[in-house]
Amino acid sequence: MKSIQTFFITITGLFSTAQTKKNLIQVRDEANYSYFQASVNDLLTYDIMNLTQYKKHLYQKFLVALTEQDKMQIISYYRCNKDAHFENKLENILQDISIQDTQIGYTYMPNKSKKQWHVNFADQHLFGFYHTNLFAQDEIQCAEHPLLSHVRAAAEYLGKKVAPLTIEDGPTPILIKDIHRLGVVNVMPTNENNYGLYGNNFARANLKYIDSMSQKIVNDKYLTNFIAMAALGYGSGTYKYDEIKFLFQTAKSSFSLAKELSEGMEVELHTGNWGCGAFGNNRQLIASIQLFAAHLSGIQNVVYHTFDKEGKKGFDEGKKIYESFLRDIKINNCESPNFQLDQQFIMFLTKQNFQWGYSDGN
Ligand SMILES: *[C@@H]1O[C@H](CO)[C@@H](O)[C@H](O)[C@H]1NC(C)=O
Ligand SMILES: *[C@@H]1O[C@H](CO)[C@@H](O)[C@H](O)[C@H]1NC(C)=O
Ligand SMILES: *[C@@H]1O[C@H](CO)[C@@H](O)[C@H](O)[C@H]1NC(C)=O
Repeated sequence: MKSIQTFFITITGLFSTAQTKKNLIQVRDEANYSYFQASVNDLLTYDIMNLTQYKKHLYQKFLVALTEQDKMQIISYYRCNKDAHFENKLENILQDISIQDTQIGYTYMPNKSKKQWHVNFADQHLFGFYHTNLFAQDEIQCAEHPLLSHVRAAAEYLGKKVAPLTIEDGPTPILIKDIHRLGVVNVMPTNENNYGLYGNNFARANLKYIDSMSQKIVNDKYLTNFIAMAALGYGSGTYKYDEIKFLFQTAKSSFSLAKELSEGMEVELHTGNWGCGAFGNNRQLIASIQLFAAHLSGIQNVVYHTFDKEGKKGFDEGKKIYESFLRDIKINNCESPNFQLDQQFIMFLTKQNFQWGYSDGN
């Protein structure tokens, strides 16, 4: 008996010295999501993963931009339940929505009269590759907002309800509010490096080049709001009803929660070719799903970052499909007031026989 006791004491002792002390963060529940709110100071007590040399360089370079005042900022994390149910409101569809497209990437430029949300094209594991040498959309956001890695560490520690998983037996998208953008990395090709830094090119560049392409933000730091939602991936052939349903529900829950968390302010959603890179989704389908989900959620403005010519083409065609559905329901709605808008839309899309695309490896 005595030897067992000694054993336990030794183990406990080991843990208490091996781990740094974490500030307490409380998890709370609402009907459709669980969440926590914590200051930057609290979040910094949660240790992040071991970073590769390049990522460590960016992390250290950007994190010093935080002032003592910045560290008082409260950051919020919300995770949708897998059976979250946000109502379909016909009146949202009858309201106008502004839809713009651009090939320029996110600038995160704030506008005091609107609440802006930026979609993170997430993996099932939230920010799953931030510590590696991959540098696609998700990882660039993590590098430029280094506190995201601490938010993830806290979510992992705080238990099942807020676990950093964007899919768990269903869509469980995660929204993160008021997180500092502390740095900028220019990933575009330059004379010195024709490949730039996007995707796998980051790993092939050298540290000196990465350093010259990155800059910390000292004055006028922006607070960014993220929607981390994961698409399905690696399908083939024709999209099936259940696949479209999953994608639509993911976007609908995400955008509805973003709208709710914007507390009555006008909302501007920034998104783009969600899941159309490595996951190989069809650009037209993805555009039409996001546009209708945003409109049905009551979002007033969408800025669609098409990235390139192919993206622009997919967006234009997807927008037409969404608009033709919109015309149909405006005609039909007088006859059937209890229209199941989400189901009707999913059926409508299923009938178009969209084909899965191919993974581009990024
Ligand atoms: C962290 O990563 C470095 C390489 O970047 C490696 O040398 C070191 O062993 C790693 N440490 C742990 C604890 O994994
Ligand atoms: C949350 O979910 C419930 C059903 O579980 C639903 O009735 C309710 O409308 C939802 N709340 C909001 C704010 O959408
Ligand atoms: C901010 O948003 C308002 C409302 O949409 C718009 O009129 C204004 O031009 C925007 N300001 C900037 C600087 O983009």
